[in-house]
Amino acid sequence: MKKILICNQKMYLTKDEAINLSYDYNAIDFSNVELIVCPNYLNFEYFSNYKLGAQNCFYEDKGSYTGEVSPYDLYLRGIKYAILGHSERRMYDTNEIINLKVKACVRNSIIPIICIGESKIEKELLKTSSVLKKQITTALAGVDLTDDYPVLIAYEPVYKIGSSSPLPKEEIEDTFKYIKKILDDMKIPNYKLLYGGSVKGENIKHILSDEIDGYLVGESCINASELNTIIKCIK
Ligand code: PGA
Repeated sequence: MKKILICNQKMYLTKDEAINLSYDYNAIDFSNVELIVCPNYLNFEYFSNYKLGAQNCFYEDKGSYTGEVSPYDLYLRGIKYAILGHSERRMYDTNEIINLKVKACVRNSIIPIICIGESKIEKELLKTSSVLKKQITTALAGVDLTDDYPVLIAYEPVYKIGSSSPLPKEEIEDTFKYIKKILDDMKIPNYKLLYGGSVKGENIKHILSDEIDGYLVGESCINASELNTIIKCIK
């Protein structure tokens, strides 16, 4: 089973920078990973030869919602995935809104990549378990999933995003055990567990694990040589 690699380009790239990066991507051998590229909406066209994901979407399909992007329209444009609940968006989206967005994605045949993770303060207050449980159970409440419809859960401790090092592998594995139990108790039929937060060429070897189905990469994915190092190591 190939590892999933999600490239979250965030709002890092202008048009010209995205075009240059797309040339660099073309020189990389991605054949050993299941690659999902998530450019900003304006840059989708430069990465159209890859499986594409949106970095967010709205929970309604159409209507007077200024500034929002429709999951139905994303589907029509061939976008197969959407990141939902990224910590950089959770100040706008509650767990309940994320649930509406998950439902909207599933309604439109888009596979949700649900980001979960505790903040530093929540970790210090020993609230990691309750925070993760609330995020998962609310996001997936009432979502009608089948065996052939996967949901991707990206565990990203907030304080590890854009930091100097990822969470130690043992801690990721322990947390994954807990997340799995929640998903199994909810009878979610088909899920993959990803880790995100400071995954880099220099540290990926320390967090390789059979328990981790893939990685969500932010800053390292806009640097082709860094990304190449990550991919070679995943092999
Ligand atoms: P990072 O970002 O790899 O730059 O830490 C990950 C993310 O925000 O999803």
